[in-house]
Amino acid sequence: MTVKSALEDLQDEENVDTGEEMELSVLSDEQSPEIRRFRAEVIQGLSQPHKALPCKYFYDERGSQLFDRICELDEYYLTRTEIEIMRAHVGEMAERIGSGSILIEYGSGSSMKTRYLLDHLHELRAYVPIDISREHLYRSVERLEAAYPGLPIRPVCADYTSDLLLPIPKDHPSRRVVYFPGSTLGNFEPGEALRFLQRVARVCGEGGGLLIGVDLEKDESVLEPAYNDREGVTAAFNLNLLHRMNRELGADFDVEGFRHRAIYNRPEGRIEMHLQSLQKQSVRIGNVTIQFAEGERLCTEYSYKYTPVRFAQLADEAGFAVEQVWTDPRRWFSVQLLHRTSK
Ligand code: AVJ
Repeated sequence: MTVKSALEDLQDEENVDTGEEMELSVLSDEQSPEIRRFRAEVIQGLSQPHKALPCKYFYDERGSQLFDRICELDEYYLTRTEIEIMRAHVGEMAERIGSGSILIEYGSGSSMKTRYLLDHLHELRAYVPIDISREHLYRSVERLEAAYPGLPIRPVCADYTSDLLLPIPKDHPSRRVVYFPGSTLGNFEPGEALRFLQRVARVCGEGGGLLIGVDLEKDESVLEPAYNDREGVTAAFNLNLLHRMNRELGADFDVEGFRHRAIYNRPEGRIEMHLQSLQKQSVRIGNVTIQFAEGERLCTEYSYKYTPVRFAQLADEAGFAVEQVWTDPRRWFSVQLLHRTSK
């Protein structure tokens, strides 16, 4: 599907009568803990003085499709650059990681970048992909099983930001290496990032490692277009969150009444994505009404950018030491191997 037809699709959907879907969502609200949690987090986020929503909700079926399109955009350098780094340096990464390890991936999705590692790691004992989307997870496990016969794959369907039970015995002697590509750490605020890395340190245990994709600080002239592309794919991705709340929570957001904004907040070192209300309006979500002032912004995502020094400090605080940093010739992105320190 082309970007254009994806966008047209999105527009078509706005005109569909959703009466039937609303009833379904009322029904599923009683049944599904996921929907109940979604609603609770939405209402909580929209009741704050500075409205905000968790960015994990971008990724429904359509949101995931739009994100795949984002990764192909000229302006969106992240995915392309990370893959370039993996291709150029995976041999060295495999050497550094060593043989006989267990690879645990957080947010594995379709495990595209992982294939470089699976192709090069020596005597890999097992691959444990973790993803919240059951569909993505099992589809990719099926493909990987065909491509890597003999490799034990132990998928875990879970939200990796909460505590996990891994399908590896506690006393298993292999080295655990967590793979966390995609600059996803950038979505966490500093305190969350620290707690997350501390949890990873516990999961990988003594002697464990972390191979992580970290986007680097750079000029606004590169950063802002990456989150505000000419074709409007990122805008559609951001606005899809409103469609999703309408569909799944029976909300009545007027999607045309909001616009996408992305700015680089340099003091905070982060891209901020917002949905800005074009007029004074109110929105109903079930029996809750939320007011928007004209121009008011709803923050939908932070994407933190690190300097190598700042990231090394964060890693150190979490109980990791940076062993090696691989980057591209422009130094736009980095893949970093950390090992657990004893603290
Ligand atoms: C998936 C966290 C890497 O911060 O760049 C892309 C998602 N948001 N365009 C990012 C995203 C808008 C994203 N990550």
